[in-house]
Amino acid sequence: MIHIKLDDSNLKSFVSDEEINAFQNDIHKSHQALQNKTGKGNDFLGWVNLPSEIDESLIAKIEANANAISSMAEIYVVIGIGGSYLGARAVVEALQHNFAALKKDSKHPLIIYAGQNLSEDYLSDLLEILDQKDYALTVISKSGTTTEPAVAFRILKNHLEKKYGKENAKHRIIAITDHSKGALKKLADDEGYQTYVVPDDVGGRFSVLTPVGLLPIAVAGFDIRKLIEGAKNMQLHLSASSDITTNIASQYAALRNALYKKGKTIEIMVNFQPNLFYLTEWWKQLYGESEGKENKGIFPAGVGFTTDLHSMGQYIQEGLRNIFETVLSIDNPNHQLDVPFEKENLDGLNFIAGKRINEVNKMAELGTCIAHVDGGVPNIRISLPEINAYNLGELIYFYEYACGLSGYVLDVNPFDQPGVEAYKNNMFALLGKPGFEKQTEMIKKRL
Ligand code: PA5
Repeated sequence: MIHIKLDDSNLKSFVSDEEINAFQNDIHKSHQALQNKTGKGNDFLGWVNLPSEIDESLIAKIEANANAISSMAEIYVVIGIGGSYLGARAVVEALQHNFAALKKDSKHPLIIYAGQNLSEDYLSDLLEILDQKDYALTVISKSGTTTEPAVAFRILKNHLEKKYGKENAKHRIIAITDHSKGALKKLADDEGYQTYVVPDDVGGRFSVLTPVGLLPIAVAGFDIRKLIEGAKNMQLHLSASSDITTNIASQYAALRNALYKKGKTIEIMVNFQPNLFYLTEWWKQLYGESEGKENKGIFPAGVGFTTDLHSMGQYIQEGLRNIFETVLSIDNPNHQLDVPFEKENLDGLNFIAGKRINEVNKMAELGTCIAHVDGGVPNIRISLPEINAYNLGELIYFYEYACGLSGYVLDVNPFDQPGVEAYKNNMFALLGKPGFEKQTEMIKKRL
């Protein structure tokens, strides 16, 4: 039994069962390729069995580290970018208080992120805050050479050493990187930082169930055992068969490929809960980086409703008809709040007085879905009973597996990202990195 449900009843007027079922054969082959590690990029399939193979001693070590960090830090800075940061942020922000930064009674450090941009103002503001707080940090980079986290780490390492002294600072730094190679590994060894390993066969965007995601999530005070248990349950469910009528990832992969074939080239992930914003960001990376290559792939976009109904709603309702929506719907909130009654009823809202806010939100969801379907936007609905660590574990593994299937159906290697290098090469050429002299000369001619 899995907790996540997928409802495709709003696709009926857009794709036929026949058009969906036509993908069963490709899905089956893709499923076999994932399970037997025979497809493209098969040296990056370590994530497939990760939930069932994760070591108890690793979990215990992460929990012990998280406790130690909680006792020494009010703030935990997670330095990383892309797959080395979005998974942790997706889970932490989904589970934490919506106003975590303002909560005074938390027993756990507030997680703050760095190394995901090159903004001088962002880093300067961060240093100003860190001047006044006790903090520790983790630097996460599989390659150990990514510019954004390397720059942020250089700055924060200096700050930490000035604040606590070099010897004490090193006990406040954990590096998560490759097990043997890369600049960060060498630095960590030279300086004596504690380290965790990003497994060789797990790419960044599939690494949330490794220390890359688990350590920050545990430091934030969330139950990583439940997260892993949920993922394991989903792994068990998805590995059993590739049948699109029983395997929810097969179904999702078949539906989105059927829609893509009919010209729906943009998938918008919709949520109605602001704390799912970063889950959408994680999903966008997962699908965008896995499928967007060889001039193919669905463009993954995201909106948060009802907020964005007042900004993007117009386009979705009446713009170019190349989009479909996947709504991530949460059945039950973790709190209860009713709309109050007001005698004067000046705002005319007494017709919903006494109703739960969630009921209003649900009717907004239903009304939006019907309107968008009427406007020519197919709608897939994925629902969770509630947001908790277990369900997020299920959801993460579901999306990962469906992404692997979907990428194989598209006939691309879902586990590489060659296109990410282009901007880096230009940036290095423009900054005059040694070894880039020719590129520097060429790019300068274009300016
Ligand atoms: O999914 C990926 O592989 C990328 O998003 C990387 O995680 C990202 O570029 C960061 O790379 P690294 O961990 O090597 O610093």
